Amino acid sequence: MINESKVFEVLNSISDPFFNKPLGELGTVTEVKVKEEKNHVSVKITVAKTDSPEQLKLQSEIVDKLKNAGASSVGLRFNAMDEETLKKHLAESGVNKNPLGDATIIAIASGKGGVGKSTVTANTAVALARLGKRVGLIDCDIYGFSIPDMMGILENPILDSQEIYPAERFGVKVMSMGFFVEDNSPIIWRGPMLGKIISQFFSDVQWGELDYLLLDLPPGTGDVALDIHQKLPNSKEIIVTTPHPTAAFVAARAGIMAQKTDHEVIGVIENMSYYESVKTGEIEYIFGTGGGERLASELGVELLAQLPLKQPSVQEGDNYAPSIYTSDDENGKLFDDIARKIIEKGK
Ligand SMILES: Nc1ncnc2c1ncn2[C@@H]1O[C@H](COP(=O)(O)OP(=O)(O)O)[C@@H](O)[C@H]1O
Ligand SMILES: [Mg+2]
Repeated sequence: MINESKVFEVLNSISDPFFNKPLGELGTVTEVKVKEEKNHVSVKITVAKTDSPEQLKLQSEIVDKLKNAGASSVGLRFNAMDEETLKKHLAESGVNKNPLGDATIIAIASGKGGVGKSTVTANTAVALARLGKRVGLIDCDIYGFSIPDMMGILENPILDSQEIYPAERFGVKVMSMGFFVEDNSPIIWRGPMLGKIISQFFSDVQWGELDYLLLDLPPGTGDVALDIHQKLPNSKEIIVTTPHPTAAFVAARAGIMAQKTDHEVIGVIENMSYYESVKTGEIEYIFGTGGGERLASELGVELLAQLPLKQPSVQEGDNYAPSIYTSDDENGKLFDDIARKIIEKGK
């Protein structure tokens, strides 16, 4: 025989696997019903995440223990915790604490490759650092990594026995698969491995205190982009496109995915907007016009910048990096503007 007080006694002693705290202390048992004649117990519980491995673990523990306590059958219903309660419990328990502390995470996405996403990510990071911010950059494009090269990083991250310290250039801390591949040989990892590598870039790297962490996403709306959206519910997003209508149309999908998964899109950056002839000063719209504006209005966000086609002016010396504009460059100034806008938008 089982009764209500016994059920509560059993439940309160069980630890929630997500928070590592007894259910009694969390107060997550919302309803208990006992049909004494049938020895049937039904319980409603809120959990941090439904359909998760934690829920499954909790489920089997509750059923086992209630049956041991005399129940013949157990019915369980799980509800997801509302966001406020979840935040409160997360803060109190310290579980799942973002190893990056309070850093604002901004993912840079695009519909397709070759539109300048990595160029934008690297230069925005460098501009934020120029404005005194503590900045990290993760090159999430595992196959198509290009950040170390673009930023002219010659030194690898430091690998201690336990810790990895990111490489650093122009005041930006950088992590990329490129540091771990010898002789530019192709990478053959797939699916789950990719997710693991990126997770390690987040959790096993000694980033120190950061104000901003920028993520150079692989192009499109594939697995890695989706995975990052799910793992980093608070990250924001910037979408890069060229002015060509087709590019903007494809980029819209990346923006819509971000918005659908509740990620704030900070704005759109149009790259390769025009070319100004060095000889005549004439402006040519090589890739058409209007893509950035159209995409921004479609997503209901700001068009943060229109960047011309231009090579960085520094071509040698200590400050040389193939894709980094200094603040003397016109594009460098535009990136400073972008960085200021990002800072103004706050957390
Ligand atoms: N504004 C620009 N002016 C000149 N070259 C650019 C500009 N933006 C990007 N590029 C060049 O275009 C190519 C693609 O840019 P990249 O940043 O690698 O794009 P993605 O990361 O979207 O594939 C690179 O060779 C890069 O140097
Ligand atoms: Mg790239």
